[in-house]
Amino acid sequence: MSNIIDGKAVSLEIKEKLKEKVEVIRAEGGRIPCIAVIIVGDNPASRSYVRGKIKAAEYTGMDSRLIEFPEDVEEAVLLKEIQALNTDPGVDGILVQLPLPRHINEDRVLDAIIPSKDVDGFHPVNVANLWLGRPCFVPCTPQGIIRLIESTGESIEGKMAVVVGRSNIVGKPVAKLLLDRNATVTIAHSRTRDLAALTRQADILVAAVGRPGVITGDMVKPGAIVIDVGINRTEDGHLTGDVDFASASQVAGWITPVPGGVGPMTIAMLMENTLKASGLSA
Ligand code: GUN
Repeated sequence: MSNIIDGKAVSLEIKEKLKEKVEVIRAEGGRIPCIAVIIVGDNPASRSYVRGKIKAAEYTGMDSRLIEFPEDVEEAVLLKEIQALNTDPGVDGILVQLPLPRHINEDRVLDAIIPSKDVDGFHPVNVANLWLGRPCFVPCTPQGIIRLIESTGESIEGKMAVVVGRSNIVGKPVAKLLLDRNATVTIAHSRTRDLAALTRQADILVAAVGRPGVITGDMVKPGAIVIDVGINRTEDGHLTGDVDFASASQVAGWITPVPGGVGPMTIAMLMENTLKASGLSA
């Protein structure tokens, strides 16, 4: 049986540290960091994620603004709001919850956020700077994954890492972060031949596919670190990952649960990025 990587506990420690830093800012009469979160429509999953982000801001003592638009909002209205937030000196970070309705061009919206307030790290300038190894906002989920791996005390350097999934939000950036830490990285995807043969070589296996149970125990190298990024809802309403926990946890050395693994870390990293956007280091 593997060791469980407790994302809830690790994220709580991070939030406690942030809370102390915000308390110092408050005591010194400084300006409290503020994140603006934009949500369009009422997708229940998006609503739940946004609630978590606002709650984390409250927990750490940061300010937040929740800006809600109806599903049929015009793109121009959204862009105008982002422009206003870009120039608002009281706002440090701007996050637009994805996905957006189909009539809105997601790229245009993300491009409109000023890179210095792009706490999600999705703006092309931040993406470019990440890949160039320059200072930038690092996307929250990938950054959270690295922190979870580091929490095991095992080193990343020289390890064989396999990332399953090639999204802009998780797969691609986490591959770059692992590469930066001197792992040998392979990105697998839906067209990869013999996925199991590949994943069985992975000392670090990151599953970010968005389909339940894609990774089973027979695909895991004994002793591997397995990070499950999937948040899939089953027919009976439960959350389940991309990894079949029951079988994989028999083989892995370390494994993240769903829920309570990567999810809480994404939010903790968002709070770190917000503090950073306000000009302070986390
Ligand atoms: N939707 C799913 N994940 C994310 C995320 O990390 N940030 C935003 N803004 N939307 C998301």
